[in-house]
Amino acid sequence: MCGIFAYLNYQVPRTRKEILETLVKGLQRLEYRGYDSAGVAVDGPKNNKDNNNNSITLIKKRGKVKNLDEELYKKDSDLDLDAVLGTHFGLAHTRWATHGEPSAVNCHPHRSDKDNEFVVVHNGIITNYKELKKYLNSKGYEFESETDTEVIPKLTKYVYDNRERDTISFSTLVERVIQQLEGAFALVFKSRHFPGEAVATRRGSPLLIGVRSESELSAEHIPIQYNSALFKEGVQEKNIHNRPDAVGGGKAVEYYFASDASAIIEHTNKVLYMEDDDVAIVTNGKLSIHRLNRQAGEDPVRLIKTLQMELQQIMKGNFEAFMQKEIFEQPESVVNTMRGRIVFDTDTVVLGGLKDHLKEIKRCRRLIMIGCGTSFHAAVATRQILEELTELPVMVELASDFLDRNTPVFRDDVCFFISQSGETADTLMALRYCKERGALTVGITNTVGSSISRDTDCGVHINAGPEIGVASTKAYTSQFVSLVMFGLMVSEDRVSLQKRRGEIIQGLKDLPELIKKVLALDNKIKAIADELYEQRSLLVMGRGFNYATCLEGALKIKEITYMHSEGILAGELKHGPLALIDKHMPVIMIIMRDACYQKCQNALEQVTARSGRPIILCCQDDVEITKNAYKTIELPHTVDCLQGILSVIPLQLMSFHLAVLRGYDVDCPRNLAKSVTVE
Ligand code: AGP
Repeated sequence: MCGIFAYLNYQVPRTRKEILETLVKGLQRLEYRGYDSAGVAVDGPKNNKDNNNNSITLIKKRGKVKNLDEELYKKDSDLDLDAVLGTHFGLAHTRWATHGEPSAVNCHPHRSDKDNEFVVVHNGIITNYKELKKYLNSKGYEFESETDTEVIPKLTKYVYDNRERDTISFSTLVERVIQQLEGAFALVFKSRHFPGEAVATRRGSPLLIGVRSESELSAEHIPIQYNSALFKEGVQEKNIHNRPDAVGGGKAVEYYFASDASAIIEHTNKVLYMEDDDVAIVTNGKLSIHRLNRQAGEDPVRLIKTLQMELQQIMKGNFEAFMQKEIFEQPESVVNTMRGRIVFDTDTVVLGGLKDHLKEIKRCRRLIMIGCGTSFHAAVATRQILEELTELPVMVELASDFLDRNTPVFRDDVCFFISQSGETADTLMALRYCKERGALTVGITNTVGSSISRDTDCGVHINAGPEIGVASTKAYTSQFVSLVMFGLMVSEDRVSLQKRRGEIIQGLKDLPELIKKVLALDNKIKAIADELYEQRSLLVMGRGFNYATCLEGALKIKEITYMHSEGILAGELKHGPLALIDKHMPVIMIIMRDACYQKCQNALEQVTARSGRPIILCCQDDVEITKNAYKTIELPHTVDCLQGILSVIPLQLMSFHLAVLRGYDVDCPRNLAKSVTVE
């Protein structure tokens, strides 16, 4: 939710144009996080009348990043684009509005005053902004936007103007400011008073720093300017606080600050993930980390990690949209989820991140699966098989509702936090709630280094690869597979379950090929979408193992096509939804050959008896069904508990085609953002 990107080049000469291009490219990579307005802050006077030393220019524009990009090169700007800047720090931000409508004035960077003494980009929400604003108003500070963020640069200037001594470091200033802030934030600060310096901090919102050193730019030699041990993945972490040879070492170096790795990977694969209450400072090209409210003897240790991500993974390639690419990646992404974890010859499943906690898990009172949106649906989809394989009660919970109810949680509960991004605020809050109550916490995330993956006791990375489209697709199927693997791991020593386990493991082995067969139905699905795209509403009905598919399919449809869509449990049909059925209402029904087959057929009868014209997802060659259907999409058959992986894909494709036909931006649906880091 909102994307931060900032770029500092220290003794690496870049033209202002190159700097702007880097900032805009960073925003484009993050645009899926928010896309209602975007802005940058760079050094230099905006026009010739500005005689201030160390001027900072802000350029902000409503709409997508491409609008900002056009604005930057308008002829009437006096910014000298060819000027070469040896050392420079630039900020950029793409916004998803929370406080105040999308507009240039509400867009980031926000500033302390008309002279732009302090400028800030922010992700998250400052919950005590009203109190701070009132206080600053009383001190004569005037606000120009409706945002919560604007209190931050204003407060920074207030602290600066009221400093006790002439000198105060930029980091001390920021530390004093964030001590007053409540809520969630990732922040990057720039100031006219501290040219070429950067300060960044976070609490509850992600922020990472990429480092590229001059020496790494040359392929021939590697004289490293910083302590090379810091750059080895897996080596003992080094304390980089206040080291004279801290990262950068005062030599030519570039730093990239971003809300997620996808904006950094094309520049460097060396990154440092900031922790809550870390304050990162770059002065004279050197990066160091301070801890807010540092206790005596506490020294932060931060490892610079090597990102495993490839640039190609975050490019669209030949696809029209990231969502489409991600749907078609599923034969490979499910393999990546299983890789190294299932031994098909021996029917064994080992999830490395959970094996040390297995005893504790087996002894627990119940499993609680918590998530939001699609991640919640992955829990619904696997609940039944988990109950069967673990022989434990399994609760599935929407994170926000779980918190609203103050749900009782006990020390002998095992709580799963399912989240593609690993940063969803509601899920994170639920994680903290369960931790406080002593439960064992397990993360199921797609984002290495995310808050949920770091803050849980143990977990599983689903390894689906970066998911950029706001509508989650491949993450869902990989979450699904991960949770099934968990059930298989727990049930390994249950003699009575071996046959069932064997069937499921064989089903997982065959899954990639079956997914390919479903994807081959794309043209047929497109033809159905051609018929449906002008409809206002679309119902999706099913039960048992396929109920989650209905919820997930309906969510996909509403989020990117803006059509009304509802996932309905077929067993509930006669308790209300049947009233919606007539010959005009489009209905998709999922009827697979499983334990619910007969009951689903009853629902089908009820629909057709009311002149409904159902489009049915069924198993290949199911004559019984096809004869009653208006249209069918025939899917390959797999073991019942995995069928939902295959049945969701036609609905992912359907929503994609409907959105394209309706003329919408598939990857950036209105009002939504990829990771929801606000409650
Ligand atoms: C799915 O298409 C949605 N974009 C949304 O429901 C999402 O699944 C939800 O916000 C949870 O996100 P997370 O998995 O990153 O926690």
